Amino acid sequence: MALYALGDLHLSFQSDKSMDKFGRVWKHHEQKIEKYVHKMVHPEDTLVLTGDHSWGRKLSECEEDLAFIEALPGQKILLRGNHDMFWSANKTGRLNELFAGKMFFLQNNFASYQDYALVGTKGYTFEGPFYLNHRGQIIGWDEAKEEHAKKLVAREMDRLRESFRQASDAGYRKFIMFLHYPPTSILEETSPFTEIAEEYGVETVVYSHCHGEPRFGDSIRGVYRGVNYMLVSGDYLHFRPALVLE
Ligand SMILES: [Fe+2]
Ligand SMILES: [Fe+2]
Repeated sequence: MALYALGDLHLSFQSDKSMDKFGRVWKHHEQKIEKYVHKMVHPEDTLVLTGDHSWGRKLSECEEDLAFIEALPGQKILLRGNHDMFWSANKTGRLNELFAGKMFFLQNNFASYQDYALVGTKGYTFEGPFYLNHRGQIIGWDEAKEEHAKKLVAREMDRLRESFRQASDAGYRKFIMFLHYPPTSILEETSPFTEIAEEYGVETVVYSHCHGEPRFGDSIRGVYRGVNYMLVSGDYLHFRPALVLE
């Protein structure tokens, strides 16, 4: 029995939106996902997919992408990504009814794995624009956008707190925390997301969203202040699911 995670599948079986222009790693990436997930994940395992599942803008445009995910081995748990237009924030309950027994949509709720609670939300991170000098050093940023980002972070923190609250009330004391966005921006060393992870003694924070070599180091990777941080973006992992727990 094992817990795996992989993010940013960016599937497009029902659209011509190709990821190929983002580099060789994305060429036929859906075939890599299928190959590696089947090779590594067994039916008794759990696979958390950390968002940006589909390019479809509504559920009817995502049916083939979701069927692809459903056909992957293991228990599938899905997190909301910024591109998941089919999943508006208030639709989670409806999606869990529609896909009951097939996959679980994680938001304002929690899942379990052995004696761990799997908590999570989309998250949010300020991503600029940043202003650079001629040496490429950051000398400023769009402060209005930064203010707006703080509001989105606060809203996501409410959802994350609710996830922790439900898991705690159910008696869970061990936590793995999932985010789509990285837990910190490139300006931050800590954030409300890292603080809540420390508060609850989370063992591992799993996130994705960062694509391409220059972005892989945007946030924390490895152990920081007692919490293990894992980046699981598909292209970072060459579409091999990462082992979170055995
Ligand atoms: Fe993505
Ligand atoms: Fe994303």
